[in-house]
Amino acid sequence: MVEAESRRVTVIGTGYLGATTAACLAEMGFEVLGLDVDEAKIETLRSGRVPFYEPGLDELLTSGLEAGRLRFTTSFAEAAEFADLHLICVGTPQRDESGAADLKYVNAAVESLAPHLTRPAVVVGRSTVPVGTAATLAARLSALAPVGEEAELGWSPEFLREGFGVEDTLRPNRIVIGTDSPRVEKAVRALWQRQVDAGTPFLVTDLQTAELVKVSANAFLATKISFINAMAEVSEVAGADVIQLAEALSYDDRIGGKFLGPGLGFGGGCLPKDIRAFMARADELGVEPALSFLREVDAINQRRRARTIDIARQLIGGNFAGRTVTVLGAAFKPNSDDIRDSPALDVASTIASLGARVTVYDPQALERAREAHPELNYADSMLEAARDADVVLLLTEWTEFREANPEELAEVVAQKRIVDGRNALDPTYWRASGWTYRALGRQ
Ligand code: UDX
Repeated sequence: MVEAESRRVTVIGTGYLGATTAACLAEMGFEVLGLDVDEAKIETLRSGRVPFYEPGLDELLTSGLEAGRLRFTTSFAEAAEFADLHLICVGTPQRDESGAADLKYVNAAVESLAPHLTRPAVVVGRSTVPVGTAATLAARLSALAPVGEEAELGWSPEFLREGFGVEDTLRPNRIVIGTDSPRVEKAVRALWQRQVDAGTPFLVTDLQTAELVKVSANAFLATKISFINAMAEVSEVAGADVIQLAEALSYDDRIGGKFLGPGLGFGGGCLPKDIRAFMARADELGVEPALSFLREVDAINQRRRARTIDIARQLIGGNFAGRTVTVLGAAFKPNSDDIRDSPALDVASTIASLGARVTVYDPQALERAREAHPELNYADSMLEAARDADVVLLLTEWTEFREANPEELAEVVAQKRIVDGRNALDPTYWRASGWTYRALGRQ
């Protein structure tokens, strides 16, 4: 009986993080109940369809549903009845210009679940929140739960990368749990026992440290990308080559080569919003100067978008008006259909606003892009998108683009000019095929 209960878990919020977590836990043998307030999303998941593109997730969703280990609901009462361990996986988007995180979904999750907790329960947040949030939520949870202090809250940040969400959940590089309660620690350890046995480090911290681990990890990654992009800016004017520079740096294993890829910079639903929310929180805590460097990290990142547009403008003779421009890529990175803060779409729509006819192609993100940017044109293949182009911009490094054949593309464009916004192509190869090739941070 006790054993059966301990294998049950609910996942509150079935967006990118929640759906991935739920399907992976079912795969690991847990009985999982996914909950969302969005009926349509729940219906989609119940029918075995993943509402976004994530390699490998469809299979896990289907097998979880078929095995009867994975179910979905919109009822908090049902969730409270089903399990005594609840994972909060709702989103924390950017609130407004201040950059602060919007906590309305996390607050709502706790406030909706708590009144149904009539047995001792453990609630574990996985969402990315400003430091200090979990302590407030823990107090709110026990105040609202009929079971009072026996409803305990811990915080266990996730480090999923989109496109590798399944892999990162099944084989995480670390598990962090912020709590001072042995019961919470035990519940989280039981959840990841297989991974811990396989050697995944398991760190128990206080709530604040756990919250900080996530935002500081993302701040570090963003800083690393902006660092190399700052070097790209310098390289462009100094006559250096940032690709060779990055390679030379990477052999120092204190520096390492990961996240040292120069180009159009970072976007997506995490890095940009997380560094802004982190700065906003530091401001509230009175330590604004400690994170003021992140403002520069953000600014360097934005400047890469402007620079990409400048290079394309130069290539076509100084003016976009009336020109035909092809943009390859709409997702914020390859292997994803996520277009949140997509550098590619930002560049595409700015160029369109400057008077060009812009046609976009992306292997997965077209539907979302179409909806968000009706001012752009869309094509269903790379060759169709490139037809009559005065300049082609490669802005998301999908394998399909990396492996593009310059000769084939040359047959459909008006002018053989390409801006490689992700340093994804071999310049020698493209130039040998008669293309004028330009990239960020190189001559
Ligand atoms: C990120 C973190 O990696 C993950 O741990 C966290 O949980 C959520 O945020 P994600 O947003 O999925 O994950 O994307 P990631 O792979 O980190 O890439 C972020 C952005 O940085 C992308 O736009 C990517 O194109 C860009 N990037 C990455 C670079 O510009 N250069 C690089 O070298 C690496």
